[in-house]
Amino acid sequence: MKTRKLLLLFATGLAHSSLCSGRPSGDSAYSTRGTLKTREIIGEDQISDAYDYVIAGGGLAGLVLASRLSEKNNTVLVLEAGLTGDEVADRIDTPSGAYYSSIVGTDYDWGHVTVPQPNLNGRIVSWPRGKILGGSSAMNAMYLVRPAEEEVNAWQQVITSQDQDAATKWGWDEMYAAMKKAENFTEPLPAVATVGNIQWDSSTHGSGGPMSVSYPGITMQIIGNWTSSLNAIGVPTLSNPNGGVTLGGFITPSTINPTNWTRSYSRSAYIESLPPRSNLHILPEATVTRVLFREQAAFEGWIADRVEFAQSADTSRRTVKVRREVILTGGSVGSPKILMNSGFGPRDVLANAGVTMIEELPGVGQHLQDHLTAGVAWQSTLETAGNIRDSNSDFANSPEFRSFINDAVAFVNITRLFGTDGASAFKQQILDAFQTSAATIPPSRDPSVTEGYKAIYETIASKFYDQTAQAEFLMSVMSSGTISIQAALQHPLSQGRVYINSSDPFEPVIIDPNYFSHFADVTILRQGVKVVRALGAALGTLLGPEISPGPGVQTDEDIEAWLRQEGANSQFHPSSSCGMLPRAQGGVVDSKLRVYGAANVRVADSSVFPFEFAAHLASATYGLAEQAAVIIQAEPYTVPNSAMTTIRPLSVTALSWLLVLWAGIQFLI
Ligand SMILES: Cc1cc2nc3c(=O)[nH]c(=O)nc-3n(C[C@H](O)[C@H](O)[C@H](O)COP(=O)(O)OP(=O)(O)OC[C@H]3O[C@@H](n4cnc5c(N)ncnc54)[C@H](O)[C@@H]3O)c2cc1C
Ligand SMILES: *[C@@H]1O[C@H](CO)[C@@H](O)[C@H](O)[C@H]1NC(C)=O
Ligand SMILES: *[C@@H]1O[C@H](CO)[C@@H](O)[C@H](O)[C@H]1NC(C)=O
Ligand SMILES: *[C@@H]1O[C@H](CO)[C@@H](O)[C@H](O)[C@H]1NC(C)=O
Ligand SMILES: *[C@@H]1O[C@H](CO)[C@@H](O)[C@H](O)[C@H]1NC(C)=O
Ligand SMILES: *[C@@H]1O[C@H](CO)[C@@H](O)[C@H](O)[C@H]1NC(C)=O
Ligand SMILES: *[C@@H]1O[C@H](CO)[C@@H](O)[C@H](O)[C@H]1NC(C)=O
Repeated sequence: MKTRKLLLLFATGLAHSSLCSGRPSGDSAYSTRGTLKTREIIGEDQISDAYDYVIAGGGLAGLVLASRLSEKNNTVLVLEAGLTGDEVADRIDTPSGAYYSSIVGTDYDWGHVTVPQPNLNGRIVSWPRGKILGGSSAMNAMYLVRPAEEEVNAWQQVITSQDQDAATKWGWDEMYAAMKKAENFTEPLPAVATVGNIQWDSSTHGSGGPMSVSYPGITMQIIGNWTSSLNAIGVPTLSNPNGGVTLGGFITPSTINPTNWTRSYSRSAYIESLPPRSNLHILPEATVTRVLFREQAAFEGWIADRVEFAQSADTSRRTVKVRREVILTGGSVGSPKILMNSGFGPRDVLANAGVTMIEELPGVGQHLQDHLTAGVAWQSTLETAGNIRDSNSDFANSPEFRSFINDAVAFVNITRLFGTDGASAFKQQILDAFQTSAATIPPSRDPSVTEGYKAIYETIASKFYDQTAQAEFLMSVMSSGTISIQAALQHPLSQGRVYINSSDPFEPVIIDPNYFSHFADVTILRQGVKVVRALGAALGTLLGPEISPGPGVQTDEDIEAWLRQEGANSQFHPSSSCGMLPRAQGGVVDSKLRVYGAANVRVADSSVFPFEFAAHLASATYGLAEQAAVIIQAEPYTVPNSAMTTIRPLSVTALSWLLVLWAGIQFLI
């Protein structure tokens, strides 16, 4: 999302925050949706002593897993740090609410920010994340965009080098099927399709799945000019989007339920649509503070036997027993944090935070990647959604109008960004910089993390530059009197990390995406801004004068300086902080999503993609969660009944003493 839109989000968020700050008082606050829909939501006093599966995080992926795992005879508990969101149901359910009455910046948002970014002139960047049932799927902008076939197959290849199982799980065919399984696609209304010049291919979507995928109930005239204006600057129209090819311009569907023009998100799609299930419990306002482990006689990894949680820093901690598995679905910020607080992570980070190390796992929180986006805005005399909304007419208050949301996108490769010669020169520069980049960019001195950085770098430079997109363009018509188009970087070579510096789980996590630490990223985004301006010229008389960054920002140097100073901001797609990579490459999970070193802990959310896709991440995350449910049910771990003492840091210490003793004996011999 570009700066202006962000400002709009924050402005509206803040304007409303007084209405929804503070926790709801009493059960009545939970009754908005009626009893049936909230049957699975429990209070802390209703929690059982033990569950087969404990899911940490009731966000996008967490609620998909809760729904699928509770289809069978399993008991499932979801622990979600945030509130239910019932108090703001209307703001969430109304698609255009994502722009006009966003929950970004309210109590339903973690409100993360990065540490000051040296290559953005010391700026801190906002990282909203949903803290609510549904997680970020309750606040996102609802674009439904899939990654490219090449990207998903490359993911399979990076893990298959060490793990043959991967071959059958994470290829395009499997992920495409899993993403479709989540969906119930409905074609656009004929008038919307005509005015918006929308092309689609129903065979690239699923039908009969839990999540509704469709288009808004109305559209704007200028949407119909999107693909033809792109054609005028050499970007072809993609007539069958979301089927494995991403290059080209298209109007993408949204996660909209066309039967009542509401947002479809993991809660509404996967939980509310169910008849009540007594084997599923969802506990809001429950922050997972740690997973507790014990050792096993024949050591096949630490066994998680309890999960600790608390309502807040000031309330007492409780634990719940685990019969089978713990599934971490806290997202790209939350999941690595839970692992580190539980003693799984980089040695230096844990030592500095004062957390006793249980398993050294240098990749936890590393390989962090994010999309950066920057927008050009023009005045316009066209009618935009903002103008219609301002009119406050009957139409402006109709459900159809309130379903309107941005959906015009395009994805281009380096040929379009640099020209044919420029693209090969750029690619050569990137290949030449490989060794230096690997030596300087990963924010960890552990060699395995560097190996992972190299594997990702090679994949981007050798597989993605030619065939897949490096920049996305998105048009926004939500404001009144302005139209803006963003360019967004898709495959960053910069990588950062999330880490903790305190053993208190209620202390904020530290986010350092290390933006623009690789020169490729600022170069690609700069070229993207130039193509956006060419597109603005192709839209011609539909647009008035450019208002941001404005005519003063012209040369490459000007554009880069503007990007650093204010132009570049997060597109809100952090990924890869618990990467599915070989352990020798700083991986955190194997191809079955199992955390290395643990027998029964998996991570199953957007943190496991080993690299960014040229796509918004929700569709891939739904697919991942669907696939995770199949994998988990195929061979669930069962925690053995054991009298063995729960782990103690002591046993690690005892082990080291044994090693010292053994080393001493060797020395004496
Ligand atoms: C403003 C915004 C706009 C976006 N727009 C789009 C878009 O248009 N299209 C798209 O495809 N993607 C979009 N995204 C991205 C997409 O929504 C996310 O990639 C996706 O939701 C990630 O899913 P997840 O399950 O990994 O994490 P989340 O959905 O963020 O879920 C994580 C959950 O875990 C909970 N949690 C975290 N830590 C703990 C803990 N310790 N204990 C208990 N619970 C915890 C959180 O509260 C949250 O509910 C957007 C994101 C944002 C923030
Ligand atoms: C469900 O599981 C419980 C215990 O795990 C068992 O007692 C019960 O018989 C099972 N029910 C069915 C229908 O399989
Ligand atoms: C799929 O969407 C259609 C509306 O297009 C609706 O009639 C149908 O009930 C939906 N199916 C499911 C399983 O939700
Ligand atoms: C925009 O679309 C309308 C309707 O098809 C068309 O008449 C007009 O020429 C287009 N304008 C531009 C600048 O492409
Ligand atoms: C919209 O319709 C779906 C059924 O298609 C229903 O589950 C959901 O609760 C409805 N949403 C609202 C806000 O009425
Ligand atoms: C770049 O994309 C265009 C379509 O947008 C395509 O025609 C061209 O072949 C692509 N270039 C490469 C090197 O793949
Ligand atoms: C952790 O980092 C934050 C922000 O960088 C800082 O404010 C805080 O003091 C640090 N805490 C500790 C215990 O070092």
